[in-house]
Amino acid sequence: MHQLFNATQWDENFSDAIQAQAISALETGHVLLFPALAFSLNANEMAFLSPQIADKRSKNIGYHSTQNKLWGVQQLTDEKHAELKKMMRRFASASFDLVKHLFPHYAPKLQIARTSFRPVQVSHRKTSYRKDDKRLHVDAFPSSPNQGKRILRVFCNINPHQEDRVWRVGEPFEHVAERFLPGIKKPFPGSAALLRILKMTKSRRAPYDHYMLELHNRMKADERYQREAPQEILRFPPGSTWIAQTDQVSHAAMSGQYLLEQTFSLPVCAMQNEALAPLRVLERLLGRRLVRR
Ligand code: SIN
Ligand code: FE
Repeated sequence: MHQLFNATQWDENFSDAIQAQAISALETGHVLLFPALAFSLNANEMAFLSPQIADKRSKNIGYHSTQNKLWGVQQLTDEKHAELKKMMRRFASASFDLVKHLFPHYAPKLQIARTSFRPVQVSHRKTSYRKDDKRLHVDAFPSSPNQGKRILRVFCNINPHQEDRVWRVGEPFEHVAERFLPGIKKPFPGSAALLRILKMTKSRRAPYDHYMLELHNRMKADERYQREAPQEILRFPPGSTWIAQTDQVSHAAMSGQYLLEQTFSLPVCAMQNEALAPLRVLERLLGRRLVRR
């Protein structure tokens, strides 16, 4: 379920053999774990390690490095605001370095997306079942369709009190799909255009996005599945980093506080083995195309 790497630097050079191992492990749905790859904060940045820093309504602080835009924070002085942006930008760039060195095959097609900082204790969070990431799920976002592109994420536990981040990791994507697809109806004709007109989606929701969102919701809604699905516990200690494609890996965050996360998106054509993409798995199981050419 996971594969270990002994890198200690964000710009570490990996041998061809390690790169080959990494891309196969990632594409077959493993979590890549770097127990000795830490992201260090300076003394000023340590002050950001408080749940008070986040806006009460949002669990995460978001940052777009391409637009240098930060959101989800409480009122901060201009100076603190700039400092937090700088920390997130540094994490974005460190993560980009890591994935480019580990997956040179992806590098030309990799798009950098949102950076997030999660200062709230996961186990205390109360939300609706659909937003509850303590339930096993694959990632799919109601307002941000991705039309089949992969979601590749780099996570780093920056907890200063020796607290692990604890995940459950579930069964392979194809098993999830085989179990839940039979209950999912086709998208309602015209619904994608309507969602777009109502500005409920940031771009057009492809049939792919519909099926992924339904998988996400149905997994989370099924209490019995949550208990009985094949699963294992993964613990990520402070000072460790891990990478996963969270559209494919069934995961649940059970506890932990203070996480940095960087999202990348990747077109399926950039993969070494495109047949392993959730898009291609769903298309094969349903016998139809799920995105426009
Ligand atoms: C998630 O992606 O479901 C949550 C991961 C985390 O916050 O550890
Ligand atoms: Fe998730």
